[in-house]
Amino acid sequence: MIILKTPEEIAVMAEASRVVAEALEIVRRETRAGVTTDDLDRIAEEAIRSRGAVPAFKGYRSYPKTLCASVNDQVVHGIPSKRKLKDGDIIGLDLGAIVGGFYGDSAVTVAVGRVDEKVARLIRVTKEALDLGIEQAIVGKRLTDISHAVQRHVEAAGYSVVTEFVGHGIGRQLHEEPQVPNYGKPGHGPRLQPGMVLAIEPMVNMGGSAVRVLDDRWTAVTADGCLSAHFEHTVAIQPAGPARVLSQRVGDAAERHA
Ligand code: MF3
Ligand code: CO
Repeated sequence: MIILKTPEEIAVMAEASRVVAEALEIVRRETRAGVTTDDLDRIAEEAIRSRGAVPAFKGYRSYPKTLCASVNDQVVHGIPSKRKLKDGDIIGLDLGAIVGGFYGDSAVTVAVGRVDEKVARLIRVTKEALDLGIEQAIVGKRLTDISHAVQRHVEAAGYSVVTEFVGHGIGRQLHEEPQVPNYGKPGHGPRLQPGMVLAIEPMVNMGGSAVRVLDDRWTAVTADGCLSAHFEHTVAIQPAGPARVLSQRVGDAAERHA
């Protein structure tokens, strides 16, 4: 069952998502060579708690940290550690926060220092795939219109989408129905309705789509060791017009042209 949210509930989700957006912005600014992913986790937790919110991932199915920090061939759910970032790495930063019983969830992938143009392109295409998915999140469209738009863009660029992990509905639970796959034929699944709130999150591999999970039971890595990127926004379907991106970051335009 898809739980529709009232405008009042969406206002609370916008608060949770704004906290996530601000925390991501802060963590992104601190992301540089020499910093450990544990350092970024501490910064993320402080940013969320100082805004009166609660980290959503810490303790979720025993996940130990606030931040998911996925470096290079890590696809998602990288656990922060003493690992030091190096010039030329890329890192997916994924955060969730709870405000008033509602969740917000968002992720970005950023370059550490200078990266190859080939690597920058992977990040750019993944972000574009998210934006194209969000463009389809319009009342009257169907769920897999989002999925298809993501897959089409990714594959046209010569990359592959991860199929083992998907986006999701979000509300009083981090993961609600429906699942939001990053692949599929258009025109299937539930019709999009005002009050639906979705976390759309393309995961894009430079090589093959296969992933495996490390012995820590969380970190998903590409099977072939190639790089992977991830972006995510929490968006609300509107009564008319484009979706409202609840987790929009203020610096997003600059990010895109960076
Ligand atoms: N954004 C991810 C998701 O939606 C983060 C979950 S990490 C977890 O699944 F630890 F909370 F599972
Ligand atoms: Co998510």
